[in-house]
Amino acid sequence: MTIASTLPPFTATAAQLFEIRPIEGPLGAEITGLDLQLPVSDQDLARIRAALVKHGLLVFREQRITPQQHVAFSRRFGPLQVHVLNRFHLQGYPEILIVSNVVQDGQPIGLVDAGADWHSDLSYMPKPSLGSLLHAQELPAEQGDTSFANMFLAYETLPDDVKRTLEGRRAVHSYVYRYRRLQKLSPWRADLTQKQIDEVPEVEHPVIRVHPESGRKALFVSEGFTSHIVGLSKDESDALLRYLHEHAIRAENIYRHQWRAHDMVFWDNRSTVHYAPITPQHLRRTLYRTTVEGDVPA
Ligand code: SIN
Repeated sequence: MTIASTLPPFTATAAQLFEIRPIEGPLGAEITGLDLQLPVSDQDLARIRAALVKHGLLVFREQRITPQQHVAFSRRFGPLQVHVLNRFHLQGYPEILIVSNVVQDGQPIGLVDAGADWHSDLSYMPKPSLGSLLHAQELPAEQGDTSFANMFLAYETLPDDVKRTLEGRRAVHSYVYRYRRLQKLSPWRADLTQKQIDEVPEVEHPVIRVHPESGRKALFVSEGFTSHIVGLSKDESDALLRYLHEHAIRAENIYRHQWRAHDMVFWDNRSTVHYAPITPQHLRRTLYRTTVEGDVPA
């Protein structure tokens, strides 16, 4: 037997020639020339991952991918998280949450107010999300934008005395806390079952987290899921969270994404928060979302 015949067949995936162009502003980059219907090599994946950490958000244009390809690409970044609202999973794909304002036969087909306040996806989990991949399915001719804030810059631009106040502090993140608040605004949020409540007990995370891949510090609280800062009175905690929130969402810290057909947007939940107001029902908007599990914030 020759040496050549004992080698496994050459199966390396060819690199795709794609460009990563930073978006002018506080975060984001656009990727062109990459087709997620084709195999993505490990080398390309490493480039994408590094760009995500650096820019906080990546816009992949013109991705005509199936749900299966969406899930397969997302999985390359880590295990996928299955959303507790199983009613809005895409049939056959529990890893995909349908975000939609479409109502069929009197029933919503997806979560209409998924982005209705500023938050980092699944920050209420012991291992919050590394990132989310949101793929446009049907877009309205107007409205429907998603805004993102850079939480590295939010931290770095805080006054020194506030940074000192936050050092070592922890905050509680709670799915049920946000759910009950949004329930008052949205007729579509049915009561959670006890099983769902039990799946998402509240968790504590550091208020300032160190990004596990870059070592950069980011503010890790949000309007949506952070109920309070541990060890402060309710008034102190509410006032500090309000201050941090307003600081984080100053205009110069925000990128507003205007969706185009077949966009896939991948954002880093460890260094950004996002917001999408509810789009009125006559302007149909549907997107599919996967979330990749991250690590325990430190
Ligand atoms: C989300 O929070 O994942 C949904 C954001 C959006 O609807 O744009």
